[in-house]
Amino acid sequence: MTDQFTAGPLTTEAGAPVADNQNSQTAGAGGPVLIQDQLLIEKLAHFNRERIPERVVHARGAGAYGTFTVTADVTRYTRAKFLSGIGKETEVFLRFSTVAGSLGAADAVRDPRGFAVKFYTEEGNYDLVGNNTPVFFIKDPLKFPDFIHTQKRDPYTGSQEPDNVWDFWSLSPESTHQVTWLFGDRGIPASYRHMDGFGSHTFQWTNAEGEAFWVKYHFKTEQGIRNLTQAEADALAGKDPDSHQRDLREAIERGEYPVWTVQVQLMPVAEAAGYRFNPFDLTKVWPNEDYPRITIGRLELNRNPENIFAEVEQSVFSPHHLVPGIGPSPDKMLQGRLFAYGDAHRYRVGVNADQLPVNRPHATEARSHGRDGLLYDGRHRGAKNYEPNSFGGPFQTGAALWTGTEVGGVTGTHAAPAHAEDDDFVQAGMLYRLMPEEEKERLIENLAGSLSQVSREDIIDRAIANFRRADENYGKRLEAAVQALRG
Ligand code: HEM
Repeated sequence: MTDQFTAGPLTTEAGAPVADNQNSQTAGAGGPVLIQDQLLIEKLAHFNRERIPERVVHARGAGAYGTFTVTADVTRYTRAKFLSGIGKETEVFLRFSTVAGSLGAADAVRDPRGFAVKFYTEEGNYDLVGNNTPVFFIKDPLKFPDFIHTQKRDPYTGSQEPDNVWDFWSLSPESTHQVTWLFGDRGIPASYRHMDGFGSHTFQWTNAEGEAFWVKYHFKTEQGIRNLTQAEADALAGKDPDSHQRDLREAIERGEYPVWTVQVQLMPVAEAAGYRFNPFDLTKVWPNEDYPRITIGRLELNRNPENIFAEVEQSVFSPHHLVPGIGPSPDKMLQGRLFAYGDAHRYRVGVNADQLPVNRPHATEARSHGRDGLLYDGRHRGAKNYEPNSFGGPFQTGAALWTGTEVGGVTGTHAAPAHAEDDDFVQAGMLYRLMPEEEKERLIENLAGSLSQVSREDIIDRAIANFRRADENYGKRLEAAVQALRG
C-alpha cells in the first residue's frame, strides 16, 4: 500500500484538509444539515457512483498476475514474438469466473468457469478468453442472448427457472455434450486452482512464411483436478460464498503459486475441409488421437492484485485482442465474440477502458490515433491525431497479421458446411461412456435433480430423448431417475 494512504492528514477529493470527518455541518447544534457542507455532499455523491455495470455474464470472478514461459520451439507454426523461443517469459493476468451468477453470487455452484488470460506481449496484449470446458452449449452467436436469458433470472419470477433452462437446452440438441460436462463431476470445481482451462474455439496460427495452422489451446492444472459433489458445494456456498476467490488469494499469499501446463493441438489448414466433422464447431473436441496435444509452455500465477475494483472489476478481456501470428478462425461463435467484448467494455468501463493500468499493454505502448472521451488521460500530449501525417507519427506496417481464409458462395443465413460425421450426440455419448460407474451415477443424480423440477412433461421428454440419442443407456437411466423423483 502506498504511504500516501497510511499517513498524513485526510483531504477532500481536491486535496484540501478535512477538519471534522465525524460531524456534518448543521445550523446550530440541533438544526438541519447545511448545503455548504461540501465534504458531506462529495462523500455521498461519490458513494452513489461507486458501482459500474457488472459484466452481463461472468460477473463474479477473481484474478491474479503471473508469468507464461515458453517450453517448446513453436516457431514453425506461429511468428507470434512472445512464443518465439524456449525460456521466453511474458507477464499475464488471469481472471477466473462463474457465468450465470451476478456479482455477489457464491463461487461453489454448478456452472462453467471462465478462464480469461491476458498475455502482455511486446506486440500488444493477447487475450485468450476461455472456459474450464473445451466445448460450449451452442454453435451460433445469434443464440447467445436467448441462451443466457434462460440461465439468468426470469423476468416475471425473478429466479432462475428450471423450465427455461431445460426448455432451451432440449430445443437446442447441440447443447447435449456441454450439459453432460456440466452435470458430471467437473461441473463444480473445488477451486479455481484445481481445474483445467481451454481456449475452446479453434484459432489460427501463422508462421513467418505465411503458412497457417488451426490451433486449440489446453491449460492442464498441475494442482490436480478436484471437484465438489452437489451436497459439498451446497454446504460450502452457504458457509463461504467467496470460497474460490479466497482459495486463490491465500494460496498466492502462502507462496503456493498455481501452475498450468500449456498445450496445443495443431491442424494443418488443408485438412480442415476434409476432417470428419466441422473443426470450427464449438460443441466438439478434436480427439487427441487425431491431433495429439503438444506441450508448449507453463503458466504460473504469482501475484495478487492490490485492488479488486481497479484490477479485477475493471479488467477487460476480448477475443479480438490478437497479436501478429495469431488470428481468428471462421468459427461463427468466435466471430460473434470478436464484436461482443469490445462493445461490452465501452459500455461497462468506458471508451478508454484499454488505457487502465490492468488493461493497457505492459511490454509495449499503444500508439493509436484514438483520442479524448470520458477519462482520457492525455498521454499523447500534443502529437498529431491523424494518419498519414508528415510529423513522424505512428504509421501502418503493411505486414499482414495473419493469413486470410478462403471463402465462396452466396451470403445468407447458412448452416455450417456439412462434414461426414457432423452430429450433436456422438461426443456426448462418448463422454458418458468414458465416465467410471460412480461418476455416471452422480451425473444421473445431478441431472435428475435439476430436470425433475421442470413443470412440463413435454420439456422433460424432449430433454431425455436428447440424452437417449447420445447413449440409449444414459437416456434410460435418466428417465428412471426423473420418474423416481417425480413419483
Ligand atoms: C464475458 C459475450 C461466448 C467466455 C462475456 C461478456 C460478454 C460476453 C458480453 C462480458 C464482457 C465484459 O463485460 O467485460 C459472449 C458472447 C458469446 C460468448 C456474445 C457467444 C457468441 C463465450 C464462450 C466463452 C466465453 C464460448 C468461452 C469459451 C467468457 C469469459 C468471460 C466472458 C471467460 C469473462 C471475461 C472476464 O473475466 O472479464 N462474454 N460470450 N464466452 N465470456 Fe463470453
